[in-house]
Amino acid sequence: MAPVPISSIKVGHIDDVQELRNNRPKTIPERFVRDMSERPTPAMTLSPPSSDMPVIDFSKLTKGNSEQIQSETLKLAYACESWGFFQVLNHEVDLTLMEIMEKSSREFFMLPLEEKQKYQMAPGTVQGYGQAFVFSEDQKLDWCNMFALGIEPQFIRNPNLWPKKPATFSETVEVYSREMRKVCQNLLKYIGLGLGLEGDVFEKMFGEAVQAIRMNYYPPCSRPDLVLGLSPHSDGSALTVLQQAKGSPVGLQILKDQTWLPLQLIPNALLINIGDTIEVLTNGKYKSVEHRAVAHKDKDRLSIVTFYAPSYEVELSPMQEFVDEKNTCKYRRYNHGEYSKHYVTNKLQGKKTLDFAKI
Ligand code: OGA
Ligand code: NI
Repeated sequence: MAPVPISSIKVGHIDDVQELRNNRPKTIPERFVRDMSERPTPAMTLSPPSSDMPVIDFSKLTKGNSEQIQSETLKLAYACESWGFFQVLNHEVDLTLMEIMEKSSREFFMLPLEEKQKYQMAPGTVQGYGQAFVFSEDQKLDWCNMFALGIEPQFIRNPNLWPKKPATFSETVEVYSREMRKVCQNLLKYIGLGLGLEGDVFEKMFGEAVQAIRMNYYPPCSRPDLVLGLSPHSDGSALTVLQQAKGSPVGLQILKDQTWLPLQLIPNALLINIGDTIEVLTNGKYKSVEHRAVAHKDKDRLSIVTFYAPSYEVELSPMQEFVDEKNTCKYRRYNHGEYSKHYVTNKLQGKKTLDFAKI
């Protein structure tokens, strides 16, 4: 989420979806109506439940005996290889803190539009309030309001975008983000071990990791069959952590075996997914799985998403452990800062962004 200001971008008028919902609940402007091929098909309701998606008991990794650590690490490795997504329980993040984070985010989105617009995301940038990844006047829009902030390292922060209201918001983001950083660091350690890599390789390789947070608010939509909450994409991070607010309906879907699988999430669990960085480093052994969000007819949905990625100056390429005659090298060597820039200056379009690195 590098801040990349692009002054010449013309994005046309972007309706604020919350305002639309409040003032003209039946109206779906043309820019939100998806082409037939992109619409969430009713067939998705027939897809298998997501209950097979692995659930990792974090406390077994961090506090278990050697047997528990081993079996949970194996399970984690299976989750990364076969799903690219998994949930984590007993993650050591204070549930009250998660609740406060949820409440503050919700309060932020419920502020009057003029207040939120003080933190407006400039066209072509990804921090602040609005719709990210919009680069042209004819691009379809997502049924979502976003509020995003760069967190670490400090130089990616834009202090003007840190809200004064709600009063405790910024402090909460700060405390929450420190906790999320620990979760990511810990998980990466065990993901490394599961791959047979000793010595906290990712942490060492990543340098001072880049961390960002994005709150996604999806208001109800009178025609969820016509719109998408969030366009299909893979995450440009190494690891992503998603907290879905309590009471949210099912909305996130992952592309599994060519069908969109809606994810039913366990309350208080964290949802983790593998991002593009880990796909490249493992030469595709672990994939950053494509996902999207759909809107709901009567219910709103809120998610709080943390992106954890290498430092911008890091050069990435598949690790030699994952390259041999059978698994030829699929990605070229590139600079992660350049990839981040590429990621945030292109619209979300499935896994197309990773073509940047494909050989
Ligand atoms: C994201 C994302 C899904 C959701 O922010 O990258 O995939 O459910 N969000 O909000
Ligand atoms: Ni995502």
